[in-house]
Amino acid sequence: MKLDQLENWQRTKKCEEVSTQDVGTEQIVMGWVNTRRDHGGVIFCDLRDYSGIVQIVFGQQHEEKAFLKADSVRTEYVLAVRGIVAKRDPETINPKMKTGAIEIHVLELRLLNNCKMLPFQIGDEHQDISEKNRLKYRILDLRRASMQKNLMMRSKAAQVIRDFFYRNQFFEIETPVLTKSTPEGARDFLVPSRVNSGRFFALPQSPQLFKQMLMVSGYDRYFQIVKCFRDEDLRGNRQPEFTQIDIELSFTNQDQILDLIEAMMANLFKETIGFEIPLPIPRMTYQEAMDGYGSDAPDLRFGLKLIDLSSTVANCKFKVFGDAIKNGGVVKAIRVPGGNSFSRKDLDDLTDFVRIYRAKGMAYVKIREEGWQSPITKFFSEEEIRQINEVTGATVGDLILFGADTEKIVNDSLGNLRKEVAQRTGLIKEDEFNFVWVTEFPLFEFDEEEKRFSSSHHPFTMPNESDLDQWENEDPARIKSEAYDLVLNGVELGGGSIRIHRKDLQERIFKLLSIKDEEAQAKFGFFLDALEQGAPPHGGLALGFDRIMMFLSNAKSIRDVIAFPKTQQASCLLTEAPSEVDTTQLKELGLAIRKPKLS
Ligand code: AMO
Ligand code: AMP
Repeated sequence: MKLDQLENWQRTKKCEEVSTQDVGTEQIVMGWVNTRRDHGGVIFCDLRDYSGIVQIVFGQQHEEKAFLKADSVRTEYVLAVRGIVAKRDPETINPKMKTGAIEIHVLELRLLNNCKMLPFQIGDEHQDISEKNRLKYRILDLRRASMQKNLMMRSKAAQVIRDFFYRNQFFEIETPVLTKSTPEGARDFLVPSRVNSGRFFALPQSPQLFKQMLMVSGYDRYFQIVKCFRDEDLRGNRQPEFTQIDIELSFTNQDQILDLIEAMMANLFKETIGFEIPLPIPRMTYQEAMDGYGSDAPDLRFGLKLIDLSSTVANCKFKVFGDAIKNGGVVKAIRVPGGNSFSRKDLDDLTDFVRIYRAKGMAYVKIREEGWQSPITKFFSEEEIRQINEVTGATVGDLILFGADTEKIVNDSLGNLRKEVAQRTGLIKEDEFNFVWVTEFPLFEFDEEEKRFSSSHHPFTMPNESDLDQWENEDPARIKSEAYDLVLNGVELGGGSIRIHRKDLQERIFKLLSIKDEEAQAKFGFFLDALEQGAPPHGGLALGFDRIMMFLSNAKSIRDVIAFPKTQQASCLLTEAPSEVDTTQLKELGLAIRKPKLS
């Protein structure tokens, strides 16, 4: 088949821009054939570009040559057509299409390219395409209207974000991709250096140290929409390379940063989807989040709060509860309003569910007219039952679910249980956006395996200085920090902190983290130097752009808002990366691949 050139043709309208106002005018549109219907003397095609669809009609009565040529046209062929916009016959008007009242009667067709048989139909949004095929044939997947909508929304969002920061006196400054290991705590991706044999760059897990050094250099307010790389376990909404909206400010404090980010988010949601985030976004301390929701990323779209019963049940005869408290643990409960209707199977399923989080069981009580109905009723005195009902607020028809173990296991299992119960009982309002700031994170987490403290955020986070003075030697786990996370519907969208800007303080923190002077020098010497070169007080935060886009696009997966994502096995099905390299390349780099031992 002979293909045509575009020559001097210029598009006059995008497909979906053609309207009833254009009736009688000549227009040139270009795009892909979405569908084709041959009605004998007339051929109807839906022509599609990124804007949408318009119907084009080839008919002998319009132009014979174009009609004959259209005989060879198939779906996904690339066309340019010149024609006259006409009103459709009333009975053929399609009210579901934006261009449903008109069509273009084609006078001239230029066939710009054909298209081989495709593994799936582009125009059919209802077909079930496996994710594997979507990622393998990503070019075609991205041609589908739903993916185009997501990526165009992402482009718009990036523009809105940039506008906001420029309006607020931020500088957009790029930071290196080939760099040294950065301190976010995941595994690094390494890049061997050919020129410096035996040495490696690390891809940045975030621009953390660079943005802090830019503050020392006096740039005052920095932002960047930037790729970060982490070789980590790809659960849920994680990707090995992802995008942050990265921010740092000088001469500022936590309140100012949170206010600014709220304004940025409110502007973004308004400009992209027209949603007004009620400001200010509520704040909750880390302790309140853990106590009430068992998680530092609480989903506040529903209640089912965790209630501490440790003191209420400390002396009860139920050994499971008593032992948990004696061993320094806790007993907590969730009241499920109307939970009397849960069947035995429901309760068994939920017991299996909490076991995923290392809980040993899940005691439960149904509140009936006649009193408690539960296998554990016999262990409780009337007074204890009265107290538990009172503390939990349980009334007839309710169900109480209990967890007894270490604080960590109880928070983890009940925190997830409340989400599971909410899901099963339809308590989650899917169209709600519920934002919350979580503040006052502990500075350290105790690493049970390595028997030492590690940073909850990263080692440059500002401690609460009076906490530090008080607990440095006695109990570092009690030191709080000036770190904060932004959470939406139970998903961590972003996190940041005020930073340490004095060397003496930084050294005290390294000591608590058991980082030796030599190690600190080797890893971050350049950065510690910066702290002695006139570092201003500063702080910032980074938001996960991909995660934000998931919410704005109402997408189920982070992969649906990234043009070319990796699979959960960290590979690209389109390019088949990562791939093997040839031996000359390895030789140049001074590397050799050790064959895995055959067992
Ligand atoms: P943090 O490590 O909390 O902070 O990262 C900030 C945000 O980035 C997003 N995110 C991810 N998104 C997709 N895939 C991943 N693998 C992934 N990892 C993180 C999350 C997260 O909240 N330098 C600090 C910020 C600072 O202190 O200024 C940092 O990187 O939405
Ligand atoms: P048992 O005495 O082991 O038969 O347990 C009685 C009830 O307590 C059962 O419903 C168990 O699921 C529950 N149970 C056991 N261990 C725990 C625990 N650590 N926390 C909460 N409930 C538990």
